[in-house]
Amino acid sequence: MNYQLDTNKIPQHVAMILDGNGRWAKKRSLPRTFGHRKGAFNIEKIAVACQNLGIKYMTCYCFSTENWKRPQDEVNYLMKLPIRYFKKAYNTIIESNIKIQVIGRRDRFPKELLDAIIEVEEKTKNHTGLTLTLCLDYGSYDEITTAFKQIADEVIKGQINIDDITPEVITNHLFTKDLPQVDLLIRTSGEYRISNYLLWQIAYSEFYFTDVLWPDFNEEELNKAIYDYQNRNRRFGGLNK
Ligand code: IPE
Ligand code: IPE
Ligand code: MG
Repeated sequence: MNYQLDTNKIPQHVAMILDGNGRWAKKRSLPRTFGHRKGAFNIEKIAVACQNLGIKYMTCYCFSTENWKRPQDEVNYLMKLPIRYFKKAYNTIIESNIKIQVIGRRDRFPKELLDAIIEVEEKTKNHTGLTLTLCLDYGSYDEITTAFKQIADEVIKGQINIDDITPEVITNHLFTKDLPQVDLLIRTSGEYRISNYLLWQIAYSEFYFTDVLWPDFNEEELNKAIYDYQNRNRRFGGLNK
């Protein structure tokens, strides 16, 4: 089906919970890692599709602070996957002028992953196309706790007064400080929960849930989500015009 999109109502920032890789593999009697690989290589396709629609920011949940609970083999695979992904997707990223940044904790990664992250961020930092933010070892509780600690430290040092702490100050202490608020949050795989993702940033986001598993999520599914978003009425607590 062709979804006729209104070019004047394209969301600026789309966040995605890339879920369902394991079930995608299971359906095919494959190991879960096959689903993760297919899922990772789907990111750049959707990033390019987002860019073509005029979306400026795409933020993907790739590994949560809770995903360390998974079997060691799966975790090991997921720690190597971004390195392979950065290599494979590199040409597309360069051609498309996409800027990559990674947010989350960085103190628990293997060194090779940390090096690959630093390298890809450095190489794409002047790109002016879509900003693709990958959330790795990311969790909102961790992000907000880190922000609280930083702000408390600034108060102790006399750099800021308690009365000057505003929602903007908190926003500016989050990992997402360079990103606008999320307009649309998409979660694949038929789960209806947030799983500790961008809790502060989605205060007024529109939510879109689909049963499609992430490795099967394609341009048409993206268009469908944007079409749905364009038919929402965002009031931000006000009244309809
Ligand atoms: C999402 O897919 C990717 C990660 C959480 C790393 P899952 O691995 O959660 O896939 P399902 O939910 O088990 O199908
Ligand atoms: C959320 O998916 C995290 C990512 C997609 C990276 P999970 O599969 O880990 O979430 P739950 O456990 O179903 O809530
Ligand atoms: Mg899952």
